[in-house]
Amino acid sequence: MVTDRLAIDLEGISLTYPDGRNVLSGLSFQLPQGVRAGLIGPNGSGKTTLFHLIMGLIPQTEGQIRLFGREMKTEKNFRRSRKKIGLVFQNADDQLFSPTVIEDVAFGPLNLGATPPEAKKIAERTLADLNLEGFENRIAYRLSGGEKKLVALATVLAMDPEVLLMDEPTTGLDAATRERIIGILNRLDKTLLIASHEYDFLARTTKDIYKMEAGRVVSAGDAALLHPHYHAHAAGDVPHQHH
Ligand SMILES: Nc1ncnc2c1ncn2[C@@H]1O[C@H](COP(=O)(O)OP(=O)(O)OP(=O)(O)O)[C@@H](O)[C@H]1O
Ligand SMILES: [Mg+2]
Repeated sequence: MVTDRLAIDLEGISLTYPDGRNVLSGLSFQLPQGVRAGLIGPNGSGKTTLFHLIMGLIPQTEGQIRLFGREMKTEKNFRRSRKKIGLVFQNADDQLFSPTVIEDVAFGPLNLGATPPEAKKIAERTLADLNLEGFENRIAYRLSGGEKKLVALATVLAMDPEVLLMDEPTTGLDAATRERIIGILNRLDKTLLIASHEYDFLARTTKDIYKMEAGRVVSAGDAALLHPHYHAHAAGDVPHQHH
C-alpha cells in the first residue's frame, strides 16, 4: 500500500531539553504512508528524542508535527494518533508494565476496544508469530534482555498499527532472532521508521536511509546503494570500499 499521503510530516522542529541541551534544530522530515525508512546516527544525536516527539511523549519547543495530515497540538490529538502509530521503545522496560507477558501483549488490543477473549486471542497469535509460544504466563520483568525486546515488539504488533516506529529493535538479539524479526518486518504491510546502528539490518528491512546530522534528519540515500559505504565504517577504523 503505497500512497503519496504523508504519515509523518515534521516541519521546523527544534527541541532543547530543560537543562539547556539543544538536541533537534530546525528539523524537517516527511515519511509517506507505505514507505519503509531507516534512521542512523551517533549515540546522543536525537533519534529517541525524535520518536518520543512523534508519539507526543515530550512537548516540542518549536515547529509543527502533522500525522496523517492532521496537526498535532494537544495531548488529545496525540491520543488519537497513537492508535495508528506504534513505538517499540529502545528500552523494553519502558514498554512492559504488567505482571505477565500475556497481560502486557493483550493490553493494547483491550485498550483499542477488543473484548477480553478477543484480546487474549490476538495476544496469543502475536506471541506465536514471534516464536514466543509458552511465554504467556512468564513474569515480564524476569525475562532476559532479548526476550523482553521480543515481548515489547509483540505488545506493539498486537495493536496492528499503520505506522511502526522501532527504536533500536535488534539490540541484544541473537543472530537467529534478528533473522526472524527481519522476516516478520518484511512480511508486514506497514509504514516503517527504524532507528538502528546496525546498517545491515536497515538495508534488509528498509528502502530509504536517513541520518541525524546537527539536529536534523538528512537523506543518506538508498539503502542498497549505501551498503558498501556504511559497511566500511561499521567494520573498522580504517575507511575502505568493498567492490
Ligand atoms: N530528558 C532529558 N533531559 C536532558 N537531556 C536529555 C533528555 N533525554 C535525552 N537527553 C539528551 O539528548 C541527547 C539525545 O538523546 P537521544 O536519546 O534522543 O539520542 P539517540 O540518538 O537516541 O542516542 P542512542 O543512539 O544512544 O540511543 C542526549 O545527549 C541525551 O543525553
Ligand atoms: Mg536512542
